[in-house]
Amino acid sequence: MSLPKVVITRPLPEAGLSQLREQVQLVENKKDRPMQRTELLEAVQDAHGVIGLLTDRIDAEFFDAAPKLVGYANYAVGYDNIDVTEATRRGIPVSNTPDVLTRATAELAWGLLFAVARRIVETDGVMRSGHWPGWGPMQYMGMDVSGRTLGIVGAGRIGTAMALMSRGFDMPVLYLESPSGRRNQILESKVNAQCVSWEELLQRSDFVSVHCPLTPATRHLFDRRAFRKMKNSAILINTARGPVIKEDDLVAALREGDIAGAGLDVYEKEPVMADGLAALQQAVLLPHVGSATHTTREAMAELAARNLLAMLHGTVPPTCLNPEVLA
Ligand code: DGY
Repeated sequence: MSLPKVVITRPLPEAGLSQLREQVQLVENKKDRPMQRTELLEAVQDAHGVIGLLTDRIDAEFFDAAPKLVGYANYAVGYDNIDVTEATRRGIPVSNTPDVLTRATAELAWGLLFAVARRIVETDGVMRSGHWPGWGPMQYMGMDVSGRTLGIVGAGRIGTAMALMSRGFDMPVLYLESPSGRRNQILESKVNAQCVSWEELLQRSDFVSVHCPLTPATRHLFDRRAFRKMKNSAILINTARGPVIKEDDLVAALREGDIAGAGLDVYEKEPVMADGLAALQQAVLLPHVGSATHTTREAMAELAARNLLAMLHGTVPPTCLNPEVLA
């Protein structure tokens, strides 16, 4: 009997794939760039399974192009690239990679927070330029972190992990009330976090860290109106999805001093940035590397592979987004 065919749309860490290699016929895109749409649709024509990326759009057209598809595994926790409703309508299970990247992403959010607050990238540039004149009492002053208020937008796994990591810095923690009204017991009991309204979170936070998924409700959540409600001294961190922030408005808000700084790992139109953003010294800009540690990226590959193997065997994958299709 021939082995099922599985397409992987971009090279992934090998350590995660060994089990898959033994059980399927693997067809890997060897080019380290997102597949063009036509390449992708052609590659999946006779695929039984696909492991894809946040840059691959998994929608009705994709499913039409892959009539033999039994399951799709996303190599990301965010799944705004997948039309889950459409997959469910067609009875196709789809999965993501939660948990394994929680700490790495939360750690990077802290890295950005410190980099902006203490002007780490800017001052590293001073040293490299050879223009540092020597120590001076008025130089490169930034913002304290300890004791300042941290506001979490999206208190799910990563937002919770980030807030818990604040314990060493003695920070009051605020988090945004969820639409369902469900409270985060972990945050409330472990860091005494306060569940507040959108307005209150914006007005009271010194640091606002974004961890919510991208949905129609969160697209452009941060626009000029929101920035104007924030403290002028506030710093915004985003390690979630770029379109949660209206990037042109962020550039204007930084230029005009509505807020003091921003640390971004994600962008509205990746890989392109809004005009003017790159010129702003009060922004620290990273190339979507929240989960980019060796162990995390390997664990993501392993989890995506386990998800896909389960789908091929007709069992419920460990982190399925629509388990009802297998019930
Ligand atoms: C995700 O997993 O959603 C990240 O953006 C990539 O690791």
